[in-house]
Amino acid sequence: MKTVHTITEARQLLDDARASGQRVGLVPTMGFLHDGHASLMRAAASACDVVISTIFVNPLQFAEGEDLEDYPRDLARDQAICAEAGVTLLLVPSVEEMYPTPIVTEVAVPPLANVLDGISRPTHFGGVATVVSKLFNIAGPCHAYFGEKDWQQLQIVTRMALDLSAPVTVVGCPIVREPDGLAMSSRNVYLTGEYRTAATVLSRALRRGVDLVASGQTDAAGVVGAMEELFHAEPLADLDYAAAVDASTLQPVDQISENVRLLVAAQLGPARLIDNTDAHRPNSLP
Ligand code: PAF
Repeated sequence: MKTVHTITEARQLLDDARASGQRVGLVPTMGFLHDGHASLMRAAASACDVVISTIFVNPLQFAEGEDLEDYPRDLARDQAICAEAGVTLLLVPSVEEMYPTPIVTEVAVPPLANVLDGISRPTHFGGVATVVSKLFNIAGPCHAYFGEKDWQQLQIVTRMALDLSAPVTVVGCPIVREPDGLAMSSRNVYLTGEYRTAATVLSRALRRGVDLVASGQTDAAGVVGAMEELFHAEPLADLDYAAAVDASTLQPVDQISENVRLLVAAQLGPARLIDNTDAHRPNSLP
């Protein structure tokens, strides 16, 4: 695996690879990698000849007072994980390399960005869409792999690629969980002691939701209410939202039909956690 720090070097290597007929896979990350990231890299490696991963803690997607400065970083460890998971090219650009002049362009996907997480993080998805758009421009024609844990992000980058005719096929990959159900996240490192134990409330609430759906409950308010009850019983969790939405438009639904996604977000001490599931197919939920 080769590590580069400039856009020019990455572009050149990927252009050369495509010129010789190789397929490119892209896995954008902010580093401090875990097995969820490795699963995206392995999926890319199994479908593509060249896998570029990027590590860039993108200031644009952090609001004032969020954890930009404290965001965990460990490049040596990340390089080992990337190499092991089949990454062939790692781009680690500096903030100056990505934003050499103050950026005045913003990529916005308002109908998908202004709901759910976008209500408490109103500038977040503009920052995500802008940096992912840049990464798509840097990587060029490719398949790009994103985790389903950030379901709203996945819908936003999928729609952005479509609307902007990006030469990119967005591939969503299943959530990877700890044995007790907690969805893997770089921010789980903030969870210590009792907060780590309490953090299973997110996956337990989703499990309660899918079980109700499986038992025949189709009223979305009933399902959401049952999920909320679990949070109210967990004093260490401060619920932001529990929701049942159309999986693509992210608009709330009244009835749980096909293509409905259940989502939850909560603050547990220092960590803001999110999780979600298909309402009918719980996949990795314990
Ligand atoms: O999901 C993330 O880690 C980030 O939002 C992404 C897609 C790498 C953009 O900075």
